[in-house]
Amino acid sequence: MAQKANFSNIYKFYDFINTVLTLGFDRSWRSKASSHISGKQVLDLGSGTGAAYEQLQNLEVTAIDPDENMLRLNKFQNKIIGGAEDLPFPDNSFDSVYCAFVWRNVKEPLKGLKEVHRILRPGGKFILLDMTRPKNKFLKSLHKIGTFKITFLIGLLTFNLKEYRFLHKSLDKYPQPEEYFNTHPFKYCNIERMGLFNFVYQAVFEK
Ligand SMILES: C[S@@+](CC[C@H](N)C(=O)[O-])C[C@H]1O[C@@H](n2cnc3c(N)ncnc32)[C@H](O)[C@@H]1O
Repeated sequence: MAQKANFSNIYKFYDFINTVLTLGFDRSWRSKASSHISGKQVLDLGSGTGAAYEQLQNLEVTAIDPDENMLRLNKFQNKIIGGAEDLPFPDNSFDSVYCAFVWRNVKEPLKGLKEVHRILRPGGKFILLDMTRPKNKFLKSLHKIGTFKITFLIGLLTFNLKEYRFLHKSLDKYPQPEEYFNTHPFKYCNIERMGLFNFVYQAVFEK
């Protein structure tokens, strides 16, 4: 199984490398995902450096992340250290939870889903954006080779081979989202693929 990435080592150039890795498309994926947000009180789960600031800045956002270094660069005002598996909020606290490029890091994903469900108000949305592998076998192989080479090169250039190798390996950590999100405590879950080769997905859950 893939190891956990230590984002403390790469936080300074995380945003730049992220833009390179996604060819700048992450902005449009974030916009699309954030358009599903309902209500004003939003939790940005695994907020990191606050890459979603542009999309969420007009909402009442609480940013949460286990990595203090990432949070230090985060522009949101309300910042809390913590992780998906144990959210430090009472039941029914938020209208929506937004979570981008995080879920592959969560050690106990089902526990995380239950926690998000608990802190959402009835009718609240959980919007999860992440990368996966393409469904098509041929495209999947191409994608594997591509991510191996790109993450290896970036890892070498930034002296953080382990962290970038994690990004490549973590794409195979869980099954395809359509199968993986079969079990959840929500009323429904709608999954949509995006990006070149469909290697990005958004999952929108409603409590
Ligand atoms: C790839 S970054 C994504 C950051 C930001 N959401 C974005 O869109 O750029 C992954 C983030 O997930 C955080 N993370 C790792 N484990 C987590 C967990 N169990 N719960 C919440 N966040 C976690 C990391 O510290 C890191 O900041």
